[in-house]
Amino acid sequence: MVEAFAPGKCILFGEHAVVYGHPAVALAIDQGVRVSLKKSEEWRIGGEKFDPFKHPHISHILHKIFYYNGEPLDIKIESQLFPAAGLGSSAALSNAIGAALHKMMKPNEKLDIVKLAKIGHSAEAAAQEGRASPTDTATSALGGCVVVSGEPVKGTEHIFNTELVTPEGKRSWSIYKSILPEKTDGIWLILGFTGESSPTGKMVAGVANLLSQVPSKKDEMEAINEITLKGLDALSKGNFEAVGLAMDECHEHLQNLNVSSDSLDRLVEAVRPYSLGAKMTGAGGGGCIVAISRNPQRVSEQIEIAGGIPMISKIGTKGVKII
Ligand code: MEV
Repeated sequence: MVEAFAPGKCILFGEHAVVYGHPAVALAIDQGVRVSLKKSEEWRIGGEKFDPFKHPHISHILHKIFYYNGEPLDIKIESQLFPAAGLGSSAALSNAIGAALHKMMKPNEKLDIVKLAKIGHSAEAAAQEGRASPTDTATSALGGCVVVSGEPVKGTEHIFNTELVTPEGKRSWSIYKSILPEKTDGIWLILGFTGESSPTGKMVAGVANLLSQVPSKKDEMEAINEITLKGLDALSKGNFEAVGLAMDECHEHLQNLNVSSDSLDRLVEAVRPYSLGAKMTGAGGGGCIVAISRNPQRVSEQIEIAGGIPMISKIGTKGVKII
């Protein structure tokens, strides 16, 4: 049997703006997806018959990347992530499957993390009609703090470039790693799930529509760009008070792009008195908020009181690993 684990992620700054070439900053989180593969008499997943159409990420990696034609596999998946909630659950699944298959098929070859991130991205694109940013798969593969940007970003290390042919044409991205401070000063990330899943494609299309009808909304993108760079600088210096302020500011601009929701705003308001900063994370319209705080238990209670489901993670979790 082979097993692998890949973490989920949360976007700290730059969601939506990244679609327009601005930078985004994402952090890997402790929670993720664990996959085990065992040779078997028949194809099975989660104790049931494996239907490739129900599992497009897995069948893409099995057949289009690894050209697997060995014995049938019994696939077990344990996910700690809320699905379609902005935490990168499908990216984590793709990376964990890719890493486990690599171990099974090439046991003596070292896992190439960049190659794995690209495999994960291609699986996401195949499952989402050719539209996917590499943010989730790169963050889950590399771990720590990942910056996705069209241009070099001060104080980061360039890791790889990637591109994708989408229905709207070819898109290119550069992936950077930002070094996190050694001491995170008792600071925790707290995620709060609204209980509502939200399709990324619909939210991205909504923003495109808003920008074409109200061109002045482009200023919101510029503002998010500035906040992202300011927030990243503060994060790399370990100035979490400034990171929190930047998160609060970022949430306001996301509200102005109509991607927050009543449930997201309710959770953000509920946690603010006990947090250094809080904002929605990911595509919005539902999904999750992220807060940073020295008092994660109190913030979690606030999320529960406001009707959400909390999850606590440290800052700077490692990336995908074969177990
Ligand atoms: C979704 O997690 C983040 C968005 O910026 C979309 C994307 O980056 O592809 C809304």
